[in-house]
Amino acid sequence: MTGPGSLRGRDLLSVADLSAAEVGRVFATADGLKAEFRATRRHANPPLAGRTLAMLFQKPSLRTRVTFEAGMAQLGGAAIYLPEDAVMGAREAVRDIARNLERFVDAIVARTGPHEVVLELAAQASIPVINGLTLREHPCQALADVFTIREHVRALQGTVVAFIGDGNNVYHSLALLGAAFGMEVRLAHPPGYAPNSGIVSRAQSLADATGGRLVFGRDPLEIVRGASIVYTDAWTSMGQEVQTEERRDAFAGYRVDDALLDAAGPAARAMHCLPAHRGEEITSAVMDGERSLIFEQSENRLHVQKALLVELIGASTVGADQGSGS
Ligand code: CP
Ligand code: NVA
Repeated sequence: MTGPGSLRGRDLLSVADLSAAEVGRVFATADGLKAEFRATRRHANPPLAGRTLAMLFQKPSLRTRVTFEAGMAQLGGAAIYLPEDAVMGAREAVRDIARNLERFVDAIVARTGPHEVVLELAAQASIPVINGLTLREHPCQALADVFTIREHVRALQGTVVAFIGDGNNVYHSLALLGAAFGMEVRLAHPPGYAPNSGIVSRAQSLADATGGRLVFGRDPLEIVRGASIVYTDAWTSMGQEVQTEERRDAFAGYRVDDALLDAAGPAARAMHCLPAHRGEEITSAVMDGERSLIFEQSENRLHVQKALLVELIGASTVGADQGSGS
């Protein structure tokens, strides 16, 4: 995986760290890995044999943890999960963690609260650092989201995605990546839950260059009109649990249900990064219904992150023909 356009050694802290062309390269790799894995549940020539990934998680996870761990195993490597109590400043300084791990493993995935922690890890470690979710961004999610949308629309350019709810980490990454691909990313949010203004400016600059659009409103019914995708996320993100009751009140009119999908149009599909709170931000009827892309979206975390690992860590140079039987 060397040569022009190689992503080897790069970090993924924000989804804006990659150009649209580089994301296209990751998607092309993911297409191949997905097709092979879907056909045989394995890879004939695992490209990351002997490679290792450290996973520093300060918050719980189902999808991110399992897709990275399973993904590394499927690619011939191994992942080491380090839960909150062992890491990140309490036992030793972030810079010391980085300086140790770069000598042991080939890449780091980190899930933290403050975004600054992943920035510091990346600044201190010479190996790729992947943001597995911070309060600011969830780039791996957005890559899988746009990969999923790409499988369901004729062209990303001009495709309308309507995000309903909180202007949070998931919205931030989706807005940045959608704008980079010329999409129209809309957001309906209640007062007080607007996205980060710096992220919005960055996304607007990207949209200006690609012909994309960012649209904001209060009324979900208006925001979804003509949208191909109606997207939502939890009203209360991890770390905000003390605000759960006030958020339940603020977001009460921001539930994705069948009526909202009907208002979007006949081809509209529902997406959610998960975990979902059935009956809060999304109904069970939508999640389990024929218009849901939610579990395909979740599956694509596996394929897209495997592609990302292959691109960032690179093909194994030791025993380059391993697995070929020759
Ligand atoms: N969507 C997502 O990142 O899920 P987890 O929190 O389970 O990893
Ligand atoms: N916005 C959610 C996403 C979970 C994957 C959170 O930060 O908890």
